[in-house]
This record gives sequence, C-alpha cells and structure tokens, in this order.
Amino acid sequence: MGSRYRVTSVDAVHEEGGSVFTVRDEHGDDEEVLLVPCEDGVEAWVNRCTHEAQRLYREGVGAVVRNDEVVCPKHGSMFDTCSGYCDNGEAADTTLVDVDVTVEDGQVYLTDDDVRYLHDGTSSDDDGDDGPDSTSHLQF
Ligand code: FES
Repeated sequence: MGSRYRVTSVDAVHEEGGSVFTVRDEHGDDEEVLLVPCEDGVEAWVNRCTHEAQRLYREGVGAVVRNDEVVCPKHGSMFDTCSGYCDNGEAADTTLVDVDVTVEDGQVYLTDDDVRYLHDGTSSDDDGDDGPDSTSHLQF
C-alpha cells in the first residue's frame, strides 16, 4: 500500500495524445497501460479493446484520440477518455478496465497496488504471453 512510481508528465501525455507503459500484475502477467488526456489531467486504461483483445495504442502508430474519445483501430468503437465507456459499435455498453494513477504537480504516478511498473512502451512480446524479461525492480 502507498507505493507509487512516476511514469510520465501530464504535458507529455497531452502532447502525444496518449502514451503507453507496461506493468506486471499479481499473477505475473504483463499488461499494457494506456494513458490518455482527460480534461486537464490523464486517465489510465488497460491497452485492450473490450470487444476483441485489440490494442488501442499500437507501437509506431500510437493511439487515435478524437473529440475526447479513443478510437479502436479494428472496428472503430470509441471510448470516452475520462470514463472509459463506449456507447457505440461492436464494443457498445462496455467500459475499459481502469488502472489507478494519480496526478501531482503535473506528474503522473502509478498508484495501483495490484500491479508494478515494468517499463515504458508496449510489451516486447507481441501477444503479451510471457512478457519481457524480468530484470526490472523498480517498485518502491
Ligand atoms: S476490437 Fe475494438 S471494436 Fe472490435
């Protein structure tokens, strides 16, 4: 409890329109976390569409954020960046899985006790099966 890790700054997320980092959950599984602008701050969601495990943020492409909504690259459903809720298309009536982050003095901290920070960017394993190596011990 109380652990947190500085991930990035609010400005960086707003400038890029979204960013991603990788965490490891309590079961040892790696998960990508999408940060998107929400009003003056940011929100964090698991980087996976609720319809079919499609990444919302893709390496080399980024996330498509339009009118405060994240657009799924596969079938085009749009999720509100602040609530994670989708009211349209294939993913209608679902909500993205949230990850706890806190903003303080313009910095974004991972504060979710169920996961620990691994690294910036997407998981190096394309399918997210085994994830990257476990040389990181960055939680404090
Ligand atoms: S995979 Fe995202 S809407 Fe179908």
